[in-house]
Amino acid sequence: MKRLRLPTRLFVTGTGTGVGKTMVSAILMAGTRGVYWKPVQSGLEEITDTQWIQQVTGLSDRHFQPERHRLRQALSPHASAALDGVRIDLADFELPDPAPFGHLIVEGAGGLLVPLNTSDFVIDLVVKLGLPALLVASSGLGTINHTLLSLDQLRSRNVPIAGVILNGPRNASNRAAIEHYGRAAVAEIEPQARISSGLLAQLFALNFREEI
Ligand SMILES: Nc1ncnc2c1ncn2[C@@H]1O[C@H](COP(=O)(O)OP(=O)(O)OP(=O)(O)O)[C@@H](O)[C@H]1O
Ligand SMILES: [Mg+2]
Repeated sequence: MKRLRLPTRLFVTGTGTGVGKTMVSAILMAGTRGVYWKPVQSGLEEITDTQWIQQVTGLSDRHFQPERHRLRQALSPHASAALDGVRIDLADFELPDPAPFGHLIVEGAGGLLVPLNTSDFVIDLVVKLGLPALLVASSGLGTINHTLLSLDQLRSRNVPIAGVILNGPRNASNRAAIEHYGRAAVAEIEPQARISSGLLAQLFALNFREEI
């Protein structure tokens, strides 16, 4: 099992929506007890990503930075913001200081080419914040293409890549392909039946080592 070297501050992105960015962020939060920030939350009807991570880790409010934009509909931010009569601007976002908790975990919305407004995308927010990216992808069929496209996008904008997390049933062939063609370090998170803070901390210890 390979463990990914974890930078103290990073942006958790994904190949798309629902691939496990919040699950991976919860693992990072349980392991580091750092600060979590979801700059743009689209959809307020269900439990938000911040609330879910707070619930499963049991960490206090001090570990959670408020979202900068809370949009009502669970749509792409550009569309959800338009419905709320808001314009998202890159200038709205300022990197929080994670002191005294050390680590900062920022979770994006959807994937890298999700639009925030008429001209900027999530990748522009990653670049503006100046963070390395951890890419979460599903482990199954279709993931090679999505993952390689996302890695290309990060490289074309000179974003350092902390690694790829393949989330789902283990798939040795997909893993090997992403390591080879994507030239990235890969770790794997299997489906978990019951999620607790202890389990999340265990998954952290198995898959990450902290940067010194
Ligand atoms: N390894 C796993 N084991 C069990 N459940 C998981 C796992 N990974 C993800 N899930 C569940 O799958 C669903 C989608 O995952 P998650 O919310 O982490 O995706 P996301 O990429 O953050 O989505 P969004 O784009 O909405 O932020 C959630 O209900 C989550 O709890
Ligand atoms: Mg999420």
